[in-house]
Amino acid sequence: MNHPDTAFESDPKHLHLAFDLSFTHTEGRWARPGSWAGRTFPDVRMFQELAITAERGGIDMLFFGDGTGLPDTWRGSTDAAVEWGVQWPRHDMSPFIAAMSAVTEHIGFGLTYSSTFMHPFYVARLLNSLDHVTGGRIAFNVVASTRVSDAANYGYDRLPEHGQRYERMDEFIDVCQRLWDSVEPDAIVMDRETGRFADPAKVHAIDHHGAFFDVKGPLTSVPSPQGHPVLVQAGNSPRGIATSAKFADLIFGFGGNLASQTRHRSMLDAELAANGRDPADVGILWATQLVIGRTAEEAAARKNEMLAYWGDEAVGAYLSYNSGYDFSTVGSTVNLGDLNETIVATGASPSGLVGQLVTELGADHDMSRAEFFERGWKHAVGFDTTMSGTAEQLADQLEENFAATGSRGGYMIGNPLSMPSSYVDIIELLVPELRRRGTMGEAYPGRTLRENLAS
Ligand SMILES: Cc1cc2nc3c(=O)[nH]c(=O)nc-3n(C[C@H](O)[C@H](O)[C@H](O)COP(=O)(O)O)c2cc1C
Repeated sequence: MNHPDTAFESDPKHLHLAFDLSFTHTEGRWARPGSWAGRTFPDVRMFQELAITAERGGIDMLFFGDGTGLPDTWRGSTDAAVEWGVQWPRHDMSPFIAAMSAVTEHIGFGLTYSSTFMHPFYVARLLNSLDHVTGGRIAFNVVASTRVSDAANYGYDRLPEHGQRYERMDEFIDVCQRLWDSVEPDAIVMDRETGRFADPAKVHAIDHHGAFFDVKGPLTSVPSPQGHPVLVQAGNSPRGIATSAKFADLIFGFGGNLASQTRHRSMLDAELAANGRDPADVGILWATQLVIGRTAEEAAARKNEMLAYWGDEAVGAYLSYNSGYDFSTVGSTVNLGDLNETIVATGASPSGLVGQLVTELGADHDMSRAEFFERGWKHAVGFDTTMSGTAEQLADQLEENFAATGSRGGYMIGNPLSMPSSYVDIIELLVPELRRRGTMGEAYPGRTLRENLAS
């Protein structure tokens, strides 16, 4: 295995793989060749079978991102998102995780909740119970949330300001951690002779009074196998990275661009050191899309399936939601510079599709509406950042990027062409290659998810 070529000096760790199951049925995937026929989301048995298969492949974790609103930016309506299944439907995955854990023994599960909308007492208690049910295999992905449609379901007209959302996250996690510590591990006595259940000296109120929450504590449940679930954070801004460095055990980062990944890694390392933490302990799983084939030609042909066009309504709903700008308003000819200025003026994200087109083609460039949407589709499916090839070719690339980003963490493989076949291919073709090379270590060397991720 290659050694890290960053300034960071430490024993390289094994490469870890997780499957991001956030979008396995949406954006038309449910209808693609290789997807389950005769079964539809959210059939829990689909998830149980995938969990069994993924555990056979030694995958570290099945991960579920979340959002609680419907895409509603395109035409100011949710209709297109509903009609074409754009990032909708999405369930609360906690009961699904419980069901998956009942048919597996080792694989971990990542569950997402927003610290902007949820309450830490509820989340800390739920995660504690899930850690019990899974036998120490739960991770909590805490997000600050970015979408007004999510906020609208929790009584907000608008999202709280960015810095304030991270202040709330800091306090939210602090409360969770104190609640998880509020009952000491040996508090439960259960002495059958005396009938004494627990030692009150080992169960503590937390008496928290902060800017956002007042929580008396203690937690009403008993300590779980991991004590604290593995904490995952996905904020990408300098503020998000600073917050993640305070508590995250693992980071979920944007993949696909090595320059921004190495920047993220070095910013995180500096923040971890500033918090007195060892940068060796915190890996980043890079969001990655893979298309694998038995030959390079087969992989390239499969990758081209991503370009099967979805239609303006669906593409528009996707792009508009993800950039915060309603692209139904574009005319028959699009001037890139003008459109970019309009987007920036509305406060929407300038770094998405249009920003990239301006960089690529120049602000003076005009294109037809049809071309704009076709390019938008390619952007939406992540065509240019999807790696394709044989198991050997992909293993080479993954190893190289892993080494270049500090050899800590690995990859969160998401947005499969179809579920389950894309993941089955990864388990059957790619994982054996990475294990043969020693890049991935022994499957599940520890007892808990935290121990398994530490190798
Ligand atoms: C790789 C990645 C995955 C994310 N997944 C989710 C998610 O599932 N749900 C969500 O509400 N936000 C998600 N986010 C958004 C972040 O949690 C965060 O709110 C957003 O990036 C804005 O914060 P920032 O400005 O610090 O990046 C994700 C972000 C990244 C980088």
